[in-house]
Amino acid sequence: MSNISAAQFFAWIERYAAHIAEQKDYLTQLDAAIGDADHGANMHRGFQAVLAKKDDLQNSDIGALFKGVAMTLISTVGGASGALYGTFFLQASTMAGTKTELTPGDFASVLEKGLAGIVLRGKAAIGDKTMVDALQPAIKAYKRSIDSGESLEQALSKAVSAAEEGLKSTVPLVARKGRASYLGERSAGHPDPGATSTVLLFRSAAESLT
Ligand SMILES: Nc1ncnc2c1ncn2[C@@H]1O[C@H](COP(=O)(O)OP(=O)(O)OP(=O)(O)O)[C@@H](O)[C@H]1O
Ligand SMILES: [Mg+2]
Repeated sequence: MSNISAAQFFAWIERYAAHIAEQKDYLTQLDAAIGDADHGANMHRGFQAVLAKKDDLQNSDIGALFKGVAMTLISTVGGASGALYGTFFLQASTMAGTKTELTPGDFASVLEKGLAGIVLRGKAAIGDKTMVDALQPAIKAYKRSIDSGESLEQALSKAVSAAEEGLKSTVPLVARKGRASYLGERSAGHPDPGATSTVLLFRSAAESLT
C-alpha cells in the first residue's frame, strides 16, 4: 500500500483551508444558532494564517508541518476551536516526528494521538455535541479499514462517511460542552459547528492524500 508524503499532507492542509474559506459563512451561521457566531471566521482566520506560512511549511517534514499548523492556529484563532484543533495538530506532530512519509497505519496512530489530545484538553465525550462526535467515529472507521487490509482510498472514504454520520448524530443532542451548553435544551435541533468543520477535514483528506 502506498505511503503518504509530506507534500500530500501539505496538500491536505491547503485543501482544508480552501473548504473552510468556501464554507466560512455556513459554519458561522451554524455557530450563530447555538454559539457566538464565530466558528467560520475563527477557522478561516487560522487557516489563512497557516497558508501565509506556505513557503516554510511545504518544505517541512511531517512533524514540523503539523507543529507549524498547530502553533499558528493556537496563536491566531483565540476561540475554543483554535485551541482544540491546535492541540490535535500538536499531538499529531509529536507522533509524526521527523518522518517525510507515513504508512496508512502510521497515519491512524497520528490521528488517534491528535484525538487523545483534544479529549484530554476539552474533556468531551461522544454525545456531548462537539467535534469529537465526528472525529472519533471517523478515526475509528479509518483504522478499522486499514487494519482489515483495505486501501487508503477506501479507508478515507469510510472515515468521511463516519464523520458525516457523527455530524448528523449531533443534531438532536443537547450540548454539554462549550458555549452551546449554556443554551441547554434549546441547543437541540441544530448541527454542531465543530463537528461540521471536522467533516470538511476528512473530506479534504480523502481528496488530497490518495
Ligand atoms: N470542550 C470541548 N471539546 C471538544 N470540542 C469542543 C469543546 N468546546 C467546544 N468545542 C467545539 O468547538 C466548536 C466551537 O468553536 P468556535 O470556533 O465557535 O469557538 P468558541 O466560540 O470559542 O467555542 P465555544 O463557544 O464552544 O467555547 C463547537 O461547535 C464544538 O464542536
Ligand atoms: Mg463560537
